[in-house]
Amino acid sequence: MMKDFLCLSDWSLADLEKMFALAKELKAKQKAGEAHKLLEGQTLGMLFEKSSTRTRVSFEVGMFQLGGHALFLSSGNTQMGRGEPIKDTARVMGRYCDGIMIRTYSQAAVEEFAEYCDAPVINGLTDMYHPCQIMADLMTVQEHKEDYRNLKYCWIGDGNNMANSWINAAAIFGFELRVATPKGYEADAAVIARAEKAGAKLIFTNDPKEAAAGADVLNTDVWASMGQEEEQAEREKAFVGFQINSELVKMAAADCVVMHCLPAHRDEEITDEVIEGPNSIIFDEAENRLHVQKAIMASLMAK
Ligand code: CP
Ligand code: NVA
Repeated sequence: MMKDFLCLSDWSLADLEKMFALAKELKAKQKAGEAHKLLEGQTLGMLFEKSSTRTRVSFEVGMFQLGGHALFLSSGNTQMGRGEPIKDTARVMGRYCDGIMIRTYSQAAVEEFAEYCDAPVINGLTDMYHPCQIMADLMTVQEHKEDYRNLKYCWIGDGNNMANSWINAAAIFGFELRVATPKGYEADAAVIARAEKAGAKLIFTNDPKEAAAGADVLNTDVWASMGQEEEQAEREKAFVGFQINSELVKMAAADCVVMHCLPAHRDEEITDEVIEGPNSIIFDEAENRLHVQKAIMASLMAK
């Protein structure tokens, strides 16, 4: 097992599938009210340099359900926010906590933190990746579809942290991934090159309709991610036509599922009608953050 969960590409298909199996088991136990205190007496430190609802709550609740404790630290209130080096904070927190979850801007910062921290480190989102979300997304697809590795997935919208992580997932799980982004908003070139080298079935287009045609899974995210708020107006212009709406859903497979990591800007990148419609599995997806992250934490932290 790897020490840290920083990027999906660090992990093997076999290990990720073990995590899905554990997540399914822990979800069933949670629903049945059966104890599953795999991390009794352990503490997760959670460091946030960006906002969060789902990530913060699901990690904190997850640790409680596993018999442990989670503590929330926002960078503004830590010495890190006043310039204490990452390598010092990482070594100190690693001596207090049994695991660390970080949400920040730079992937390099998370990697440096993990290098200096003796405890396992989990990436709770960077500008580059959102691996916990993809794990929740794939767990959700498995609950709604047979043979999740043999479906046609499509990403419509910004080539952001979620798109990069989907591209990593395509390389590991072997499914076809169509990626439709406006010109100038493509996913990370190095991520694409690595996935292509690993044999990923990737199709890139600037036409959302081409990507959606016959697809089994439609996925999108906000047009301006955290840290890009000042680009909102410019992006709204660039992303015209990239909305998941009922017209686009009709072009996909009749039984397609629609996903969004949330928070959503309703009637911008996805319509209110589609979020609330029969193809949406968005709230199952949000719930599964809890179950899959419990499996990730237990896999990394259980003594
Ligand atoms: N999807 C997701 O990571 O949500 P939060 O930003 O609310 O944590
Ligand atoms: N791409 C979004 C995801 C939020 C969960 C962001 O980084 O803001």
